[in-house]
Amino acid sequence: MSEQQEQRATFSTRKAFIFAAIGSAVGLGNIWRFPYIAYDNGGGAFIVPYLIALLTAGIPLLLLEYAIGHRYRGSPPLAFRRVRKWLEPLGWWNVMTNVIICIYYAVILGWAASYTWFSFTAAWGTDPQAFFYNDYLHMAKDTGVSLDMVWPVFLPLAGVWLFTIAILVLGVQKGVARSSAVFMPLLVIMFLIMVAVALTLPGATKGLDALFTPDWSKLSDSGVWIAAYGQIFFSLSICFGIMITYSSYLKKKSDLAGTGLVVGFANSSFEVLAGIGVFAALGFMAQAAGKEVSEVATSGLGLAFVAFPTIINQAPFGTLLGLLFFASLVFAGITSMISIVEVIVAAVQDKWRLGRIPATLAVGIPMMVVSSLLFGTTTGLPVLDVLDKFVNIYGIVAAGFCYVLLMAATKTLPKLAGHINGISSFKVGTLWYTCITATFCILAYMLVSDSMNLLEKNY
Ligand code: PHE
Repeated sequence: MSEQQEQRATFSTRKAFIFAAIGSAVGLGNIWRFPYIAYDNGGGAFIVPYLIALLTAGIPLLLLEYAIGHRYRGSPPLAFRRVRKWLEPLGWWNVMTNVIICIYYAVILGWAASYTWFSFTAAWGTDPQAFFYNDYLHMAKDTGVSLDMVWPVFLPLAGVWLFTIAILVLGVQKGVARSSAVFMPLLVIMFLIMVAVALTLPGATKGLDALFTPDWSKLSDSGVWIAAYGQIFFSLSICFGIMITYSSYLKKKSDLAGTGLVVGFANSSFEVLAGIGVFAALGFMAQAAGKEVSEVATSGLGLAFVAFPTIINQAPFGTLLGLLFFASLVFAGITSMISIVEVIVAAVQDKWRLGRIPATLAVGIPMMVVSSLLFGTTTGLPVLDVLDKFVNIYGIVAAGFCYVLLMAATKTLPKLAGHINGISSFKVGTLWYTCITATFCILAYMLVSDSMNLLEKNY
């Protein structure tokens, strides 16, 4: 074994790894993506494809990634290189995806941090939509630059980057694991309180009805199944090389299979909790406006930066609700952000044999500058949209497809299964192979249909 392998940083305990893996998984996607995806794809009935996707694709692929990282002990480029030299580019593909995501993930976290502050002042006034798009995001437009708005964008963005860099400089155990061990429990407590407050709002049950009323007919729609798989991949942060990187820091004897189950179910539980909180609040918003929930249900930027401020304006305990909601976004997101940048730092460290501090600075500072230039000076929204689509299709789906294809083609799958079985509390066997094969087919289908959609929309 080379010197470099022996010196690799480690998570001190299994719990440290679990916190870090959950920290990566639980992010913006859980809070602002899942609720709407579930609502839009059959409501209560969505639980069927969602659970099937979790059990047959999410957890098996999670284990595949753990096994690659743990057996070959490296960030994605190094781990794949150790499988076969010519596989190294697949690892760099992962690294590139992470470079792209963190550039905009940081920006959204910065916005969420500003909005945590705005919750106190209700800075968005009576028209949160106009405030977000016109005042807040257009702050550096050629005409009408409002310097008041430059700082609320730049400062938090710089803060997010500096914090991420500081955590990564501290290292795998003291930085990555410890920060997740602090932020994740805090997040759960804050979010539980926010859900409790949301449930007391008038109209909350209307929102829950909208979310959970099952539309079983949707189960025959292939789009619903694709949405379930897409949500699981994104939400578990799989196919990004993050889990490869994290598991390369696990001690030799680690229960990979058991850990995968814990992480998978913890992430999904949080997602369902987020669905309850978000839809209770949307139910209130609908009732207050005399509308149907379907007219106000939304996700992403519109949910966080338009719908929630509207709710906060009108709700009893609105400030508290806003504070908890936006701080939850920041807490959930920052640990995901750390995991994304960690892949890049680890890859640079492995490739050029750099120490942690120089590698983190070499990666973090240029990216902080790019992130600020891209999104601090223009609205960045169109760029964000394109990047997001690109990441979802080619970052996740294509990478997952290549993982399975190339691990099978190089006859690495049986080695990985043997590796998991040698150290885990339960064994993977035929069922795992079957799930991986089925997932491969689904990924192939998604790759084709998503690419066609993208082409249709753009040309
Ligand atoms: N899983 C994270 C979420 O739910 C998103 C994420 C994707 C994080 C990729 C890291 C890498 O928001």
